[in-house]
Amino acid sequence: MFEYNDENLKGWLQNAIHAALEAGEIISAALQKQRFTESKENPADLVTATDKAVEEFLFNHFKKCYPEHKFVGEETSAMTGSTVGQLDDVPTWIIDPVDGTTNFVHGFPFFCVAIGLAVNKTATIGVVYNPKLRELFYASKGHGAFMVTDPIKVKVGDGVKLTGAPLPLPDTLSHALIATEYGSSKVPSVLDPKIEIIRKIITNPVAGRGIRSIGTAEMHMCLIAQGAIDIYYEAGTHAWDVCAGAVIIQESGGQVFNWMSDQPFDILERTIIAVRGDGTVRHEKAPLIKELESLMIYIEYPRD
Ligand code: IPD
Ligand code: CA
Repeated sequence: MFEYNDENLKGWLQNAIHAALEAGEIISAALQKQRFTESKENPADLVTATDKAVEEFLFNHFKKCYPEHKFVGEETSAMTGSTVGQLDDVPTWIIDPVDGTTNFVHGFPFFCVAIGLAVNKTATIGVVYNPKLRELFYASKGHGAFMVTDPIKVKVGDGVKLTGAPLPLPDTLSHALIATEYGSSKVPSVLDPKIEIIRKIITNPVAGRGIRSIGTAEMHMCLIAQGAIDIYYEAGTHAWDVCAGAVIIQESGGQVFNWMSDQPFDILERTIIAVRGDGTVRHEKAPLIKELESLMIYIEYPRD
């Protein structure tokens, strides 16, 4: 067990906020120029020089500050072919330099830098910054989730506290706004069940009010924390897609699980289902999650 206190938590969070804003400057500068892309697994799975530059900047920054910590990043993992591997109790920075790379390439304004810190294998700190919309979200375990618009110099505690939405979370999907992504994989064993789940939701008049899909897992999770989306689900996410957002949702009073599981959220599992908060403390899984899970088809992914 890695021991830490509130002072450690505050220091790590302040540092991550500062680093995310600097990373945002790199992304904003790149927006002014032409963005050359390379494909990873297929033409829907992109990487740019900016993804790599931001990841390098953040790795160097955190390695200098915390040489005893561990580091995982989307692009480093893509290059080495290894994913997270053994996550142990040591604080591990889990970084998505640009989440929503396709949006970034096209100038669709939903993309962000996401910095998560897992301690004792649990998502503990989350910072998400969208430099286009100039929206910063941050949270640390036990200390709430916050949103700052037009951030310049941000101190921990600044911003609006996020609590989901004041309206009660709907008990049925027929009153819920749902978010999901179908991901970049074209493999039929992955894509077919995803399409079938969407088909069930949109063809059944009582199984969902509508589906939204903005192309970034982390930004979907920030929309949940703001209360703009009631429920979000996806399969195929990696730890860097969800680590920061999981803390932000949990600290805003929402719930985050892996599909069909009652266990605490495991960032290495490749599925996620999350609901917004509404000011009530829940000890059980929200009925909305149970109803959506009844429509789901399990999809097998190797663990990160
Ligand atoms: C992707 C986005 C997308 C989600 C994928 C992620 P990237 O991340 O978050 O919304 O559906 O699972 O891989 O490639 O833009 O960093
Ligand atoms: Ca990502």
